[in-house]
Amino acid sequence: MPEARLAILISGRGSNMVALANAARAPDFPADIALVLSNKADAQGLETAAAMGLETLALPHRGFANREAFDTALSAELKARHIDVIALAGFMRILTPGFIRQWEGRIVNIHPSLLPKYQGLDTHARAIAAGDREAGCTVHVVTERLDDGPVLAQARVPIAPDDTEATLAARVLAQEHRIYPAALAAHIRSLGPKQACPDQR
Ligand code: GAR
Repeated sequence: MPEARLAILISGRGSNMVALANAARAPDFPADIALVLSNKADAQGLETAAAMGLETLALPHRGFANREAFDTALSAELKARHIDVIALAGFMRILTPGFIRQWEGRIVNIHPSLLPKYQGLDTHARAIAAGDREAGCTVHVVTERLDDGPVLAQARVPIAPDDTEATLAARVLAQEHRIYPAALAAHIRSLGPKQACPDQR
């Protein structure tokens, strides 16, 4: 089975990207990281990825008239590199239904909550404000509905009475780094030999 070509999409720090890149060094990881792309040119994660020897590309969304135009350019960049699977790793942009349909089943996301709870932003602050006793993170396949789609893995952490958004985020992030590589690898393996770029794109 040929290695899948993986693109990691980021918008900022890129710590999940680093976790995936480190995991991809293992000989049995089913994908090569062919591209780390950011919609923000100054994303710290782009520098980190370049320092790790990965191919990087900044595609600033501000240069495009609308979401469709950005997603069309994004898809073209991915196809030009024969990408098979996309991992969203702190990519803070909503993808259009057209883009998601083109890459159906091949986009995976990590979200910092126990979905279906707390879709969207400020997940940790909302969990603390609600008095929740636990929080966590979810790896899921991306569908046209935001922060929805089949769950591949979840991890739970306790919320301490003195937790702040920052302390809780750090506890959850450690779990993100643990579950994302394994869940992504299992999903890529489940795609089987049809993982090569489908010609209908
Ligand atoms: C992570 O906590 C990730 O779950 C979250 O952004 C952070 C990115 O950190 N993603 C979302 O909120 C997506 N809606 P990182 O850049 O260090 O990986």
